[in-house]
Parts: sequence; structure tokens; C-alpha cells
Amino acid sequence: MKIFIDSADIEEIREACTWGIVDGCTTNPSLVAKTGRKFEDVLADICETVDGPISAEVVSTEADGMVEEGRRLAALHPNIVVKVPMIAEGVKATHRLSSEGIKVNVTLIFQPAQGILAAKAGASFISPFVGRLDDIGQDGMDMVATLVGALANYSYGTEVLVASIRNLNHFIAAAEIGADVATCPFSVIKQFVKHPLTDAGLATFLADWEKAKK
Ligand code: E4P
Repeated sequence: MKIFIDSADIEEIREACTWGIVDGCTTNPSLVAKTGRKFEDVLADICETVDGPISAEVVSTEADGMVEEGRRLAALHPNIVVKVPMIAEGVKATHRLSSEGIKVNVTLIFQPAQGILAAKAGASFISPFVGRLDDIGQDGMDMVATLVGALANYSYGTEVLVASIRNLNHFIAAAEIGADVATCPFSVIKQFVKHPLTDAGLATFLADWEKAKK
């Protein structure tokens, strides 16, 4: 499974890239707004840092505007993937942008039919949101499993990018289901190295080593 970093914070993106586990990056308008920086400046820094697909989201809500924004964003760097919301106008824009050879990530997917439609329209990535479904009492990973299972019957060539991952369990479940990509905040990626027995075991090894040296 590929790991994307879900962030617009260039410092943490740079740090995560030093780990050698980052295959791409996803941003959204909320993450970019949090930085207080210009969108184009943030994107330029990410493109310089991450060697892989970088999702940049449009803010228009009608197809013509999305296509115009998408073309402009895609022209910034070959790794840019245009992120489009899962609304009817977004499906139209996905069809038009992908027909021009521009990669599209259809975002805000909360039920499998949305994902199938986006795949048919030509999306390179579809982003089912797990955490936000859990937030309203539904099982986000269950929805991802249904979506991945359904797409396996066909050959759309669309990658399922599990988004809104909030914890280690979401990540492990995404891998078990066979999702193509998990996009995670750096705070969540940091949980993947942790186990209390690892820390306790290391402390014991180092203490024993010190004793043996005396
Ligand atoms: C990524 O593409 C999404 O925008 C992101 O994962 C959303 O995560 P959130 O639901 O934690 O805001």
C-alpha cells in the first residue's frame, strides 16, 4: 500500500520525506488555509519535496470553473493531481479533465456508488473518507471494503485512496482490505512506529549494555 502524507505543512512534509516512506501528498483547502500561505507557494514547496502524486483541490463548484482551475493547477507541475469534489459538476469536470490527460482525484466520497461513478468518469484516484463517516456513527472502513470489492470486478484503473484516516486501526484495516493508498496526517504516521514493548525492550537492551561495559 502506498502512503501519502495528508498535509500542507511543508516542514512536516519535509521531515516525513526523510523517513523514505512518502509516496505522495494530499492537500485540501482547509489544510492550506491552516498554513496562512499562498496556495501556489505551498504547492511549489511540496512539488520540490515530494516525488509522487500531489493532490491540489479546486474550489469552484461548477464544471467549467473546475476545469479552468484544474488546467491551471496541472500546468504547475507534472506531479499535480487535480482534486475535485464528488458532486454532479465534479463528475463532469472529472470526465473533461481526464479526457485531456489531466489526473483527477475525486474527493469527499462517502458511499460506494459515488466511487464507482467517479471511476467511470475517469478519475485516477477516488478518496473515500473514513474518519468523517465514523464521526456520524457509520463504519467508514466497511464502506471502503465494499468499494474496493466492487471495483475489483472491473478494470477502471482507478486507485482507491483512503482518506480521513485518524488512527492506526484505520491504516491497518486499509492495508488488509487492499486499498491502493492511505493518506495520513504526519501525527498519525508517527503512531505507526510506536509500541510500548519496543520502547521497554530498547530501554532494557541499553541498560544491560551499560552494565556489561562496567
Ligand atoms: C484528504 O484527501 C482529505 O482531505 C483528508 O484526509 C480529510 O481528513 P479529515 O476528515 O481528517 O479532515
